[in-house]
Amino acid sequence: MGFRWFCLGVFALGLTGGGIALPSAAETGEKQQFDSIFLRLVGEGSTVPTEPAGSGGGLTSLGDAVLLLTHEGKIFSARSARDIEGLAIETPDNGLAAYRRVAELERYQNFTFMFHWIRYNDILYYRSDSEHGLLLSYTEFNEENECYVNAIAALVLNPEIRSAEELSARREDWEVVYRTRPCLPLKEQWRAIEGHMAGGRIAFEAPATVYLASGDYHWDGIYAPEVIAQDPDKHYGKVMAIDLASRQARVVSIGHRNPQGIAIDRNGQLWVAEHGMRGGDELNRVIEGANYGWPEETLGTKYNRLPAPNTRSYGRHETFAAPTIAWLPGVAASNLTLIKGFHESWDGDLLMATLAGKSLFRIRVRDDRVVFAERIEIGKRIRYVHQHSDGRLVLWTDDKSLIFLTVAVQSFVTEFMDDYIANADYDDIQRNQIKVALGRCMECHSFEPRVHTNSPSLAAMFGASIGSTDYRGYSEALKGRDGRWSRADLAAFLEDPAAYAPGTTMPDSGIDDPFILEQLVNLLEAVGNTAE
Ligand code: HEC
Repeated sequence: MGFRWFCLGVFALGLTGGGIALPSAAETGEKQQFDSIFLRLVGEGSTVPTEPAGSGGGLTSLGDAVLLLTHEGKIFSARSARDIEGLAIETPDNGLAAYRRVAELERYQNFTFMFHWIRYNDILYYRSDSEHGLLLSYTEFNEENECYVNAIAALVLNPEIRSAEELSARREDWEVVYRTRPCLPLKEQWRAIEGHMAGGRIAFEAPATVYLASGDYHWDGIYAPEVIAQDPDKHYGKVMAIDLASRQARVVSIGHRNPQGIAIDRNGQLWVAEHGMRGGDELNRVIEGANYGWPEETLGTKYNRLPAPNTRSYGRHETFAAPTIAWLPGVAASNLTLIKGFHESWDGDLLMATLAGKSLFRIRVRDDRVVFAERIEIGKRIRYVHQHSDGRLVLWTDDKSLIFLTVAVQSFVTEFMDDYIANADYDDIQRNQIKVALGRCMECHSFEPRVHTNSPSLAAMFGASIGSTDYRGYSEALKGRDGRWSRADLAAFLEDPAAYAPGTTMPDSGIDDPFILEQLVNLLEAVGNTAE
């Protein structure tokens, strides 16, 4: 396991977005390789010009474009790491300017302000029965009452709009559809508004429900005198459900801390990934009415490793709804998404992004339990993971890289074959002849397991039944033939396919040298028999 970085060169981002002034930037296009147990991933990333201080934001898909929302509320469209544009979409006012003014007031002179913690937390394209549009989730400061909430604003789109470039919006085009209650006062202890504890991720469920993972903004009895996650009337430390049609909100579950990922699995089950205290990162299966215990119970400690003062127990989670899995040491969960149509070995899994963990976790859930959580090291603080409508995975990192991930063509199988040929006892001429012969096979065949696109995959051919993969185009000559691919059968077939199986659609490759044929059979055997 590990990752490698290799530089592709330098290119300029095409920043042609109308309306919003963007810094011009020449960015480095980097390709990276990340190995997981089943798949080798290739990532191509580039840096997006955004406010350097602070982090946050989110990703969604509209048509064939990914939309990136940055923490300071800029929206970009991206079709690849080399095709990123600023869009002419203004985001709703989050009250940051007012917050800066209020911070100057005499009565707040003992308070500490972190302005880049007032941030935009998520963007989501939704389609309901009656409309489609964008939703934004952010921390909103209210100047009149000098307080703040988690807000969700909607931008209903013209029904004709299909692509990101057709989008444009002014601040006032957005409508706030939900605000958490109550509006929280500034906090004297620690920091005045702790927007990094907002949670703030949203998920959509047809026909019209938006789920919000709402954090407790550090009102937990440790960083503030009051505990609000346990109070069912306060919409913080909660999973909320908002009905877009009626604008009614209800509390789904309580006792959360800083839930930063929310996703619905393929059985319709809601999950949240929760950023815990040191060691207390949790994946929670959200059950209506359940209490997840924060801050009375946690598997984490304070950052100084002392027990949290208001917990009932130390290192136990037995009274309240327990996490399905927790991470010790903590990984700093930042987002959660469901994987579908990326690769059959990943289908239906949840993918969790992490900050301190600098990794993705591929989580297999089965009913109410986690079967495994595979760590895939990326080497960057990952703020967001999203699966695009075309299947690619997209990462948004705290160093402002947008990375598109695909399954590598150069896979573990091809690497195995390269090593095999490199290490076999051939002279240079033979080695070259074998590579050429193999190259000919690969014009039609893949050696990837179960990839039968143009012809049957050769990954597991040796010893297999003749003509019996899932390949759909077999001739009667192979389909109707009994027996297994022995050494002798393979050699005979490769030497003269039509003589071995009259009517086969595999042409004669013209390789007649018995030594080369024997080596190809050896290679098929080695690939098909990968016992280490
Ligand atoms: C021009 C395309 C093409 C090339 C080149 C080619 N094959 Fe094939 N191969 C096929 C097709 C198509 C079939 C299925 C034939 C049928 O159904 O009659 C096949 C079938 C096979 C099978 C039997 C598959 C099974 O499921 O029983 C083997 C083994 C095989 N090829 C090996 C090779 C090797 C090794 C090479 C290189 C020396 C090679 N092929 C080159 C197209 C090709």
